Amino acid sequence: MNDAREPFAAVDTPALLLDLDQVERNIRRYQQAADAARLRLRPHAKAHKCPQVGKLQLEAGAAGLCCAKLAEAEALAEHGLADFLVTTPVVGAMKLGRLIGLARRSKVSVVADSEENIAELGKACAQAGLTLDVLVDVDVGQGRTGVAPGESAAALARRIRENPSLRFRGLQGYQGRLQGVAALDERTRLVEEAMARLGRSEAALREAGFGVEIKTGGGSGSFPIDLHLKALTELQPGSYVTMDTNYAKVRFGGTDEHPLGQPLTLLASVISRPAQDRAVVDVGWKAASSDSGTPTVRAREGLVFEFAGDEHGIVRSGAGALALRLGERIELVPSHCDTTVNLYDAFVVHRSGRPEALWPIVGRGKSQ
Ligand SMILES: Cc1ncc(COP(=O)(O)O)c(C=O)c1O
Repeated sequence: MNDAREPFAAVDTPALLLDLDQVERNIRRYQQAADAARLRLRPHAKAHKCPQVGKLQLEAGAAGLCCAKLAEAEALAEHGLADFLVTTPVVGAMKLGRLIGLARRSKVSVVADSEENIAELGKACAQAGLTLDVLVDVDVGQGRTGVAPGESAAALARRIRENPSLRFRGLQGYQGRLQGVAALDERTRLVEEAMARLGRSEAALREAGFGVEIKTGGGSGSFPIDLHLKALTELQPGSYVTMDTNYAKVRFGGTDEHPLGQPLTLLASVISRPAQDRAVVDVGWKAASSDSGTPTVRAREGLVFEFAGDEHGIVRSGAGALALRLGERIELVPSHCDTTVNLYDAFVVHRSGRPEALWPIVGRGKSQ
């Protein structure tokens, strides 16, 4: 399958490549750091959506996985994974029926941020004869889901406690907007502010007589700060496994070298050479996400990629002649891993350019 000059000669394009050596290193790095800090790691599967990657995380010592959507957890459960925190509220009769189904075959906990949702969760679980673990979602600064910091979390914990089919387990506080802040000192300040908000909710709960067993949150960018701050008991990084150009800009302090490698790339082929200064490749918006900018060209000095339509991309040379022949392959590094992975059925898993397997992305498109 391998050719020294064209390592992915037998792989058709566009393809999503995943360097397993690098994945294993990234998993080990975050797991060992969490273990050393005595914090639980519950990686977010929304980035990879792949049972094999989830299994590697669990084998390395993860306490379970996070899923953003119920359908993601259902898909992973079908492939043998079994302990999920659904980090987005599960609302409405249709979804609650599915949640009960999942809870019957798998360990699952959910977050909630409203009395109405807690009431419907309680009713569904009572009817099913199940007890469900629930965490109160606190808005620690993102302005997305979550109750306001402070007393509101205690009010919701009371509603959970009143419900014999629900068990209050703790708090979730995730601030996504600070994860990509490149400068470590600025990111540290924002993490401290966010965790102070979570602390206000925890204080109100303790005042009201609740134990707060789990405090879950954090992402790949806040991870080094969360390790030291210890405001959370459980960390939820997702992108650290696959990485992307956005996260590559995030500084972690210490040396200039980024502590995480870049295992995720896109394999593209040159399909047209219509001009001296322009090569057209088979990766466009349908094969690489653009919400966080354009992919970059890997290991080819001076080459620049730009989107040129749904199915097309253009590669130009920033300096000198463009030395790309028809049919030649290049690797692109995605700007945002989550939304790019969601475009593919499978990872082409390789070790240092030697393809080994296809790993299905079973959670791909599972947005319900
Ligand atoms: C609730 C929650 N936790 C954790 C993560 C993982 O963050 P990251 O991909 O920055 O590691 C996300 C990502 O969007 C998230 O929404």
